Amino acid sequence: MSVLTTPTAVRTATAWWRHAAIYQIYVRSFADGNGDGMGDLAGVRGRLPYLRDLGVDALWFNPWYLSPMADGGYDVADYRDIDPMFGTLAEAEQLIGEAHAEGLRVIVDLVPNHCSDQHRWFQQALAAGPGSAERERFWFTAGRGEDGELPPNDWQSYFGGPAWTRLTEADGTPGPWYLHMFAPEQPDLNWEHPEVRAEFEDILHFWLKRGVDGFRIDVAHGLAKKPGLPDVGPDPDPQDLPYQDCDDVHDIYRSWRRISDGYNGERAFVGEVWLPTPEQFARYLRPDELHSAFNFDFLCCPWDADALRRVIDTTLAAHRPVAAPPTWVLSNHDTIRHVTRYGRRDTSFDMGDKRLGDPSDLVLGRRRGRAAALLTLALPGGVYIYQGDELGLAEVQDLPDHLIQDPTFVRSQGSDRGRDGCRVPLPWSGGSPSLGFSPDRAAAAPWLPQPAGWEHLSVEAQEADPDSTLALYRAGLALRRERLTGLPETLEWTTTGDGVVSFAREGGFHCLVNLSPAPVALPSGGVVLLSSGPLASGPAGSELVPVDTCVWFSGGVPDSAG
Ligand code: GLC
Repeated sequence: MSVLTTPTAVRTATAWWRHAAIYQIYVRSFADGNGDGMGDLAGVRGRLPYLRDLGVDALWFNPWYLSPMADGGYDVADYRDIDPMFGTLAEAEQLIGEAHAEGLRVIVDLVPNHCSDQHRWFQQALAAGPGSAERERFWFTAGRGEDGELPPNDWQSYFGGPAWTRLTEADGTPGPWYLHMFAPEQPDLNWEHPEVRAEFEDILHFWLKRGVDGFRIDVAHGLAKKPGLPDVGPDPDPQDLPYQDCDDVHDIYRSWRRISDGYNGERAFVGEVWLPTPEQFARYLRPDELHSAFNFDFLCCPWDADALRRVIDTTLAAHRPVAAPPTWVLSNHDTIRHVTRYGRRDTSFDMGDKRLGDPSDLVLGRRRGRAAALLTLALPGGVYIYQGDELGLAEVQDLPDHLIQDPTFVRSQGSDRGRDGCRVPLPWSGGSPSLGFSPDRAAAAPWLPQPAGWEHLSVEAQEADPDSTLALYRAGLALRRERLTGLPETLEWTTTGDGVVSFAREGGFHCLVNLSPAPVALPSGGVVLLSSGPLASGPAGSELVPVDTCVWFSGGVPDSAG
């Protein structure tokens, strides 16, 4: 077994994470190397040249660890091994080395809030029985009511239903309840326990020694719980919930930061932090805690100029005091793909109410999606691209019930159709039954069916079309690298009228998005670098930026908005 500790070409001391373009790989749906209908590490290894040519700086892998897959791998049974569905640990090590050789950094997903009910610790806890030390690593608590028949408190799982499940002991008697903020197969770990802390520190070392450049931290706001696990109550303050953003969580990240800082090459954390206020959010990004976190306010924002400007301003203002780089993300494996969101009447996103089935005009959504892509690539900070964004894929909203695997579907009794619609296997080429996702003559069909028409969105089809969304992403990423990498993390708003988002970066780079109902003039003297759609001709040789179009240009003199 090779352990990758040596610095590679990709390792420099620059703070790459401040401005990286990071591509998210949902392994199961990216590319299938062995023909079983599931994406795997062999599939990723075969597509590294594609990712290099796309022009991203790093890859974030959703969990690839040993898992019963009750929640797509976010139920980890062994944090130090790879699920056989995806490959082996040796293959993961090879993949890390090969990615580095292509100039791509690697970020792995760390899931510390909970593990799988098949994890050895939980199995030991079940076997060891009531009152045992093994149970202290989780939240086992006696129920309320005369016979303990009621859950210990009123917390609800994020996936619907109570956050507690009652055990039946080995001898058949009803036992205590255990906490799971997600599915019952995902028991929450007790972060007050020193062994839990020590175990995750060791897991960090395990992957850092294998050369990973960073960690995406799942449910980063959720690890610490309020002492005594009090009820939420009927009218909770969303800023003061007993199961999220409890002060002790920051201590965990300070200890992790000390670990990552001990390795060469700027290893970085990105937190999944869903919290109601920018102030709470920014506390995770203090200089001795996480390097960065996902900016979900931007993802949730409707396609509206005022709202976008506001959220960009709030984001920059929240990051400034802690000197952390902002991040920009349009879609991920939990949300409705932005092409679909932006084609709806209500273009905002709400995790608790995904409105699957709301009608969407996908031609409109794709046009706006292309404009939004250039907007995110122009903003200061890091940017995340979810696999398939670069192909303009839409949410698949009509998956048959019997194929849906997301636990939210079952736990919400079907009222939430879940997240599988953004996890459909990628189309790589026309022709073959799996659109190139699996090798020819594969033994099995893709684990979720690809919709009719996706052959026109395949990588192969888009590579042949200079106006494709893939071509736009490639051009945008290349220009971003050339013009924007390393610039100060600031922008200056420029005015060009209502309904327009328009700003300048240092070095004479301008970005203008027209969200108004009519075309707007490109400022005179502006030299177009790239646009998300064709510009139109205006009077006297001027150029017009059509509705829902983003243009990058240099020079030109839009008025400064201060
Ligand atoms: C995060 C993940 C999501 C998962 C949940 C529980 O929100 O992004 O996919 O279901 O955590 O681990």
